[in-house]
Amino acid sequence: MAMEMGYVLSLLLSLLAILFSTMSLIQKKSSKNINKKKLPPGEMGLPWIGETLAFYRAQRKNQLFEEFVQPRITKHGNIFKTRLMGSPTVVVNGAAANRFFLSNEFKLVVSSWPSASVQLMGMNSIMEKQGDQHRCLRGVVATSLSTAGLEDLVPKICNSVKLHFDRHWQGQDTINLFRSTKILTFSIVFECLMGIEVEPGMLEMFEGVLEGVFAPPIKLPGSRFWRAKKARLEIEKMLVNVVRKKRKEVEGRLEGEEGMLLSRLVAALVRGEISEEEVVDNVVLLVFAAHDTTSFAIAMVCKMLAHHPNCYSRLLQEHVEIKDSKRPGENLTLEDTKKMKYTWQVARESMRLFPPIFGSFRKAIVNIEYEGFTIPKGWKVLWTTYGTHYDTQYFPDPMSFEPSRFEENIPPYAFVPFGGGPRICAGYQLAKLNIIIFLHFMVTCYDWSLIYPNEPITMDPLPFPFHGMPIKMSPKLL
Ligand code: HEM
Ligand SMILES: *[C@@H]1O[C@H](CO)[C@@H](O)[C@H](O)[C@H]1NC(C)=O
Repeated sequence: MAMEMGYVLSLLLSLLAILFSTMSLIQKKSSKNINKKKLPPGEMGLPWIGETLAFYRAQRKNQLFEEFVQPRITKHGNIFKTRLMGSPTVVVNGAAANRFFLSNEFKLVVSSWPSASVQLMGMNSIMEKQGDQHRCLRGVVATSLSTAGLEDLVPKICNSVKLHFDRHWQGQDTINLFRSTKILTFSIVFECLMGIEVEPGMLEMFEGVLEGVFAPPIKLPGSRFWRAKKARLEIEKMLVNVVRKKRKEVEGRLEGEEGMLLSRLVAALVRGEISEEEVVDNVVLLVFAAHDTTSFAIAMVCKMLAHHPNCYSRLLQEHVEIKDSKRPGENLTLEDTKKMKYTWQVARESMRLFPPIFGSFRKAIVNIEYEGFTIPKGWKVLWTTYGTHYDTQYFPDPMSFEPSRFEENIPPYAFVPFGGGPRICAGYQLAKLNIIIFLHFMVTCYDWSLIYPNEPITMDPLPFPFHGMPIKMSPKLL
């Protein structure tokens, strides 16, 4: 009940904030003459509020597709207009629409995040960058995750997973899987990707920020956003020290000797390509981008494995064979992870059914003509994973769990859990390795079962298992 009240209150506050900030904008817009052009069909709902309440209601039950998107597709077609959180928004569905809007990033649309997210991630994070500046930052992230980088990454991830099991699983008979994978993902991003040692309290500091990312941007003492801003200041202090220490190291080193992501960012800083704030903002962003997404993906794979014993035995078989080819305690190699083909099919099929990110918002930077409709400049566009992931055209019998469908080639832009175009997930390779290596150790070292086999999933607005997905587990006797 208290949760219910908190939810209603935060919703009202956010609506109020949005109402005032957009009122002037909308008045300007309606006076412009866009009526002659053909807007997509759909209902704009109440003034300002639009259909936000219906959207939130569906989202909270994790029924965004079933209760919000699908009924509107049935009524209006794959492209429809609505009004969400004060902004006129066109929801687009289907592979052609995904291709059009995702690949025209920077040309027709730019990504568009809520004000709280931008304030907490910082103006200098990759998600706020466009054009050349965006390309430069992506280059730094991408080189850390290039093929050469991945060779080194695999043993490091193995090490982190093993340590995690020793520290958090050993001697336990139940564990909150979602919590556990968050702790693990955090240390993988920090230690394996960035090369920063995790110290006690760090995870909590970052989670303090993440809690405010989708909250109403109200700076009242005690509000979620206010607490998150405070946490962000603490992180800045901590990271600035880390960066300055790293800077000394990098400057004292011979050129060309580049290490992990933090070293690369700092090297770019030394060369004068990026600023200290940019380094800090991007570290915060990477944690945000990796945290809930990877953990949710792992949780859903485990849920699916628990419900599909045949898939589980086939997956287990794959890992037992790999394990049997290694000496005890030996690290996996990139080559070994390439043998985890079925595991990756299972993971993709789980992300098809339960995408960690259901889609994301763009803003039209020009008037866009698409499929005979006009999307006026300034309107938002929401592309969705649901529009293709649950479409029989691409995935026959879409609601059934069928990992082998990934043996066939999937048409481009039909399977989009990682997005597409210039903003396609920059951490895709890391996410993949994190998921499959975690599963390798989990299934070969433990017997486990879900405590709540039918645990509901809710969204806030990122999806999570309602009880944190507790599992019963015991070490395998080998
Ligand atoms: C299963 C896990 C993950 C999923 C499903 C996922 C999904 C996505 C999606 C859909 C986007 C595009 C958003 C948009 O178009 O607006 C994205 C962007 C991004 N992701 Fe991931 N992600 C995952 C894990 C990670 C990890 C582990 C990292 C890095 C440590 C990461 C870093 C990023 C970054 C930096 C961007 C922004 C790219 C840009 O703006 O150019 N992600 N992710
Ligand atoms: C596995 O990899 C980690 C991290 O690179 C390394 O510290 C450890 O010594 C390796 N273990 C073995 C047995 O080679």
